[in-house]
Amino acid sequence: MSVLRAAPLGCGAYLPERVVENAAFAQRLDTSDEWIVARTGIRRRHFAAEGELTSDLAIAAARRALADAGIEGSAVDAIILATSTPDHTFPSTATKVQHALGAGGFAFDIQAVCAGFVFALATADALIRGGQARTVLVIGAETFSRILDWEDRGTCVLFGDGAGALVLTATFGDGGPQDRGVLATCLHSEGAHRDILHVDGGPSSTQTTGKLRMMGREVFKHAVHKLAEVAEETMAKADVRPEDIDWVVPHQANIRIIESTAKRAGVAMEKVIVTVEDHGNTSAASIPLALSRAVGDGRIRRGDLLLMEAIGGGLAWGGAILRW
Ligand code: ACO
Repeated sequence: MSVLRAAPLGCGAYLPERVVENAAFAQRLDTSDEWIVARTGIRRRHFAAEGELTSDLAIAAARRALADAGIEGSAVDAIILATSTPDHTFPSTATKVQHALGAGGFAFDIQAVCAGFVFALATADALIRGGQARTVLVIGAETFSRILDWEDRGTCVLFGDGAGALVLTATFGDGGPQDRGVLATCLHSEGAHRDILHVDGGPSSTQTTGKLRMMGREVFKHAVHKLAEVAEETMAKADVRPEDIDWVVPHQANIRIIESTAKRAGVAMEKVIVTVEDHGNTSAASIPLALSRAVGDGRIRRGDLLLMEAIGGGLAWGGAILRW
């Protein structure tokens, strides 16, 4: 049976120029490179320059993704931008990107924190399969450096800035697991846990932007458990087994979470794309950043089966199976 699939056309990423090593934090906080590396796997991260906005990062990544796809901005008929650090409360950062790229159609932001890219991918897939859009640009872009409390050693060492983008286009497949494109997505939220990872400000509550607050140990426990569960659920939905997966492209929060999830999902670490060492946690940008790196260096090839999974504030989490 012929079915519509959201198939990948190209991807791209952008990282701000400024790189900050762990040692810079150890100079002014009670922390050390050893602690950060041992507990998280992070060695460095990129931070946006003053005046460099989430939209700037998103536009740069999107231009690279369009070039990789070999299409112009005018060929895009929907832009979905996952971010928790938009330029403004409104309008959406996606509309700024749309204008810069000369795209038509429609554009909107999605906010599911670190799970944002998976939520955006699932939405793009639904729009394409529903016939609402043909070519969709899915972007994850963040400037988390703007919402960090630089005195809180438990959070400020963890995050970085960056953007990644993926172009999807409507393609017909036979409905089987050999089809290219998004084969399955699973999304979850549990608002009961919203306090363990949140920003303590907002337009309706404090009329300020606020700073990121996290109960790290609690988030860690949920992450390990929920990511393993959603990986299994998504593979079952796509009717694929762990041994069929060529690459896991996980959200990059902490190497210990990545390793534990891979183990519980039954996938060897050699098949996991890891960028957390160089990028830190870039929230919604982390999966497309990792994807672009692995496509760019030739690890991920056409026809490879990818498993993506992410969890973030909300709690919100999800998984996706995509054949590249
Ligand atoms: N340097 C040195 N010591 C530190 C630092 C630091 N940077 N940060 C915390 N510590 C201390 C703590 O104060 C604590 O000290 P205490 O025992 O005297 O109280 C000790 O280290 C242990 O703290 P824990 O929080 O238990 O450390 P843990 O091993 O859990 O690591 C971490 C902390 C890295 C934050 C971990 O819990 C984690 O990765 N959590 C998950 C984060 C995550 O996945 N986020 C994803 C979603 S992000 C999003 O959606 C925006």
